[in-house]
Amino acid sequence: MLDFIMDRRSIRRYTDKPVPEEMVEAMVRAAMYAPSAGNHQPWHFIVVTDRNLLEEVPGFHPHSAMVPGAAGMLVVCGDPARQRHSEMWVQDCSAATQNLLLAAAAQGLGAVWLGVYPREDRMSGCRDLFRIPQEIVPFSMVPFGWPAEHPSRPERFDASRIHRDRW
Ligand SMILES: Cc1cc2nc3c(=O)[nH]c(=O)nc-3n(C[C@H](O)[C@H](O)[C@H](O)COP(=O)(O)O)c2cc1C
Repeated sequence: MLDFIMDRRSIRRYTDKPVPEEMVEAMVRAAMYAPSAGNHQPWHFIVVTDRNLLEEVPGFHPHSAMVPGAAGMLVVCGDPARQRHSEMWVQDCSAATQNLLLAAAAQGLGAVWLGVYPREDRMSGCRDLFRIPQEIVPFSMVPFGWPAEHPSRPERFDASRIHRDRW
């Protein structure tokens, strides 16, 4: 039942096949169902499909060479003014990003989480390219597409990291 969680991998190579708009919307919909502190949902999502924009991303993000080859990309942005629990927007946007990845995987798509916040250079590059207002914080980017690589599930379970009742 939980295989789709364990079998999700970061996918960095994609085929040329376009991704239907409904699948992209399903990813964003799943992200909007993520838990958030006080249920304030302090997020926005930019759906990027303009190839000229995708090609600009490696210019400001050092680990994003896959972006120009992606069918599209979602930018998760935090909106701290929407929440009353100081700094919790970071956890909220993390949960939303994870939901995007799981929704991509559940639909047979490949995607990868690219960290943006709290790196100032990546945040300003992202802000400039996508014209994000100053009060909104670019948090992560998720390029996606049909997978052209199929990494297998690594073994990660580690019983030594589990502590019972007390450390
Ligand atoms: C906060 C965060 C930032 C990440 N940033 C990048 C990145 O900039 N470029 C990249 O290729 N992968 C990035 N990743 C993906 C990780 O490299 C990947 O999740 C990790 O190697 C585990 O592999 P898996 O996702 O296939 O399980 C990031 C993941 C997280 C959670």
